Amino acid sequence: MTVTDGGSSLLAISDLHVGHPANRPVVEGLRPRTPQDWLLVAGDVGDTVADVEWALRLLAGRFARVVWSPGNHELWTPPRDPVTLRGVARYAHLVELCRDLGVVTPEDPYPVWVGPDGPVTVAPLMLLYDHSWRPDGFDTVEAALAEAYRTGVVCTDEMLLHPDPYESRSAWCAARVAETARRLAGRDPALPTVLMNHWPLVREVTRVLRYPIFAQWCGTEATADWHVRFAAAAVVYGHLHIPRTTWHDGVRFEEVSVGYPREWQPRGVPRLRQILPAPDGVPPTAWWPPAAALTRGSQSSRPSA
Ligand SMILES: [Fe+2]
Ligand SMILES: [Fe+2]
Repeated sequence: MTVTDGGSSLLAISDLHVGHPANRPVVEGLRPRTPQDWLLVAGDVGDTVADVEWALRLLAGRFARVVWSPGNHELWTPPRDPVTLRGVARYAHLVELCRDLGVVTPEDPYPVWVGPDGPVTVAPLMLLYDHSWRPDGFDTVEAALAEAYRTGVVCTDEMLLHPDPYESRSAWCAARVAETARRLAGRDPALPTVLMNHWPLVREVTRVLRYPIFAQWCGTEATADWHVRFAAAAVVYGHLHIPRTTWHDGVRFEEVSVGYPREWQPRGVPRLRQILPAPDGVPPTAWWPPAAALTRGSQSSRPSA
């Protein structure tokens, strides 16, 4: 790791799932290295509003700035949650909660992180998915869903993530993608970005899923080029519960999830991922300036550097 000598670091984590009692001490153990450190929280903090508030309040009290993007679990309306809001209204409620806590949301102006390998525009996103990552041979959303039900691999979102007032989660996703692209196009073009979304922006990272048919709940084809189009120095995501680093078109993608206790316990206690400054040996903005990226081409493995 690069030693920042008291400077700020941009750190990240996701999928804290604090409804699992064994995950709460993990959150309680998350601390900044310096008082200037920022923390990106890429969704799936918890299933109930109270759980989300518990975790974000704790973290907001420790880090110089906390930036949050919702995951599908925050957007669920679980029967046991006294907050019965659904869909857009539930998301708006969570945004207001975050604002009360001083946590930056996708609805706020994108903050600029200034530190080693910066400055960068930090853009928390809320994009959902649209069933466009379908298995081969299934040409429609209906066909892909039917195959999922036939094989028994169905995301709980089908029962708990309500799209109200949209007619479907896919329609909500389309609206989010359009509005977010507009906002990102209006950012300061002089700065690279760090894009954070709970769901991955490129389908390639879902190829390692144990059940590939689950990819239809993981993202949208509409964001396939966003890491290049919006000048990403790094992309932060979760949802897959497969923590790792991959490279796409020279851009570093960080899956930063903790996951469920049965997933992380064999690996040891989860730690924060350092996004910037780039860890030792990693080019901070591999594609920068943009002209270099245009000649680099697409790749899924880490470039030699
Ligand atoms: Fe998760
Ligand atoms: Fe998730």
